[in-house]
Amino acid sequence: MNLLAIVGSPRKGRATDSLIDKAVEGFISNDPKGIVNKIRLIDKDINFCKNCLLCRDSDTKGPVAKCSIRDDMDQISEDILASDALILGTPVHMGSVTALMMTFLERICWTFARPGRQILTMSGIPLPRSGKKRKAAIIVTSGIVPPIFKVFCNNATPLIRGTIMDSLNAKTVGTMYAGDIEHRGVEYYADKAFALGRKLARA
Ligand SMILES: Cc1cc2nc3c(=O)[nH]c(=O)nc-3n(C[C@H](O)[C@H](O)[C@H](O)COP(=O)(O)O)c2cc1C
Repeated sequence: MNLLAIVGSPRKGRATDSLIDKAVEGFISNDPKGIVNKIRLIDKDINFCKNCLLCRDSDTKGPVAKCSIRDDMDQISEDILASDALILGTPVHMGSVTALMMTFLERICWTFARPGRQILTMSGIPLPRSGKKRKAAIIVTSGIVPPIFKVFCNNATPLIRGTIMDSLNAKTVGTMYAGDIEHRGVEYYADKAFALGRKLARA
């Protein structure tokens, strides 16, 4: 399987990055021949979506519509197309994803989806352009809010889950919230991250 791991933290080697590494280890433990591609969004040139709607209104029959912006999302889109499984990780910033992760999610929203779904009176809702099914795991870290209170402060997980379902046809098979990490430390969650990666490979 081809695994794409995406780190949404601006900090290298810290909580989110480390737990993603653990999840990748767990994945590979179950799929030793798996191909892993890890991307740190902070290392990439990813510009803000401009809402020009060139991608949304594209009538391409391909799995991804062309964006008007030329930057590292061109290559990342190819990486996504090649992937069978995804791990996305972000720290909680003000209750949601980081600006890095949000910029990435906005850029995939309409390039990988077309406005083909209707719910009740609302039409034009994103529908994946590709029929290729993917599976995903989501890792969210937070500095001070422990898991027991995550319902009040974690908009990151549902935002990522919804976007990757609607745009990448990626079903989230497992999530992990590593809360209060400033006091508990990363090691506290290492086994859980490993198990999440293994679960993703087995799903
Ligand atoms: C701008 C900013 C906003 C943050 N907002 C929250 C928050 O709402 N809740 C929380 O528990 N931690 C918050 N944090 C702390 C981060 O979630 C925490 O440091 C996280 O573990 C960092 O992950 P990293 O080590 O991968 O960068 C915030 C940090 C920053 C820089």
